[in-house]
Amino acid sequence: MFKINDNYLKLPGSYLFSTIGKKVNAYAAANPGRKIIRLGIGDVTLPLPPVVVEALHKAVDEMGDAVSFRGYAPDLGYDFLRNAIAEKDFAARGCGIAADEIFISDGAKSDSANIQEIFGPDNRIAVCDPVYPVYIDSNVMAGRCGDYDEKLQKWSNVIYMPCTAENGFVPELPKGRPDLIYLCFPNNPTGCAVTKEQLQRWVDYANTEGAVILFDAAYEAYISEKDIPHSVYECEGARTCAIELRSFSKNAGFTGLRLGYTVVPKELKAGGISLHALWARRHGTKYNGAPYIVQRAGEAVYTSCGQEQVRGMVEHYMKNADVIRNGLKDAGYEASGGINSPYIWMKVPGGMTSWDFFDFLLERANVVGTPGSGFGPSGEGYFRLTAFGTYENTVEAVDRIKGI
Ligand code: MLT
Repeated sequence: MFKINDNYLKLPGSYLFSTIGKKVNAYAAANPGRKIIRLGIGDVTLPLPPVVVEALHKAVDEMGDAVSFRGYAPDLGYDFLRNAIAEKDFAARGCGIAADEIFISDGAKSDSANIQEIFGPDNRIAVCDPVYPVYIDSNVMAGRCGDYDEKLQKWSNVIYMPCTAENGFVPELPKGRPDLIYLCFPNNPTGCAVTKEQLQRWVDYANTEGAVILFDAAYEAYISEKDIPHSVYECEGARTCAIELRSFSKNAGFTGLRLGYTVVPKELKAGGISLHALWARRHGTKYNGAPYIVQRAGEAVYTSCGQEQVRGMVEHYMKNADVIRNGLKDAGYEASGGINSPYIWMKVPGGMTSWDFFDFLLERANVVGTPGSGFGPSGEGYFRLTAFGTYENTVEAVDRIKGI
């Protein structure tokens, strides 16, 4: 009789955002005619920037012509895109990342779930708490997290690094000895960012302890303050201890188009074995390359016109972030984030759990957010709202929240 991977049985019934989607759809079906404003999942609402649309059309035409048609893409990515990324995302910020250290993919969600495959089953992970659920769920699937304690809402073999109001939502260095450290800054879900000095401490720690940092920089385009690093490679020594994940979803609106990349520097080695070679092997075996059309669209983001249009989109969402943060504060809520990130992290009113508040807000204001406890035990008592809605809906949602 075949056997299943029974690590899957340890997982919650569905992925956090699927659970929320189902709940909201059920509410909408039972209450037809109500206008529900969704500020839950961080999905964008602005259309693709014109420069991207133009590049897509052009690439489609090329694919429809026998002379310029392309079949399989190079599995690690087209040089035109890897070169543009190396120059604009890294060289321009003083980071020495070579084009062949950049692996193009269909997005940061898949990369952040898949990257753990190149590490042994006995590695211990450390995560911020609260945390983007993909990091933990993918390690649970690989059998790396031990057992789930319902009461503590924690996995027995995971090191949790609490991010609380007391520490300004910036985690302390871990108490145990992790092998893989997941960091996401600007942070999802708290919206908080770290300074270069703070991040440097993590890089030094990882190099000293022989750990790897898996640095998710999906929200770097939202950084508005000085001295906040856009890439972990702005820190000295990061090339020997850090992998970075990036996305085109949140800056250029590619959530439905799918494009991202992962950087694995060649110096990053375990016992002389290069992680770069392992990830290249994994990518080459399991992935046939992001579509040519989409990679051309990604390239367009790096043109000067593309950079300007993307900046405009980010500014638009950050205006929403201001509306939410200031509106909540006016209404007497504690709220943070939304300055270097599109997420606002609010404290729920006294006595309610995060899920109580989710239901309360859905029923009383028809506004959807994400319960903080869905991101981990330290998220209990908090609630995340995204700035990715339309401006009109964001203003209306905040008015409705003020009204209750
Ligand atoms: C979120 O809402 O946390 C993100 O949109 C999820 C994702 O990027 O996969």
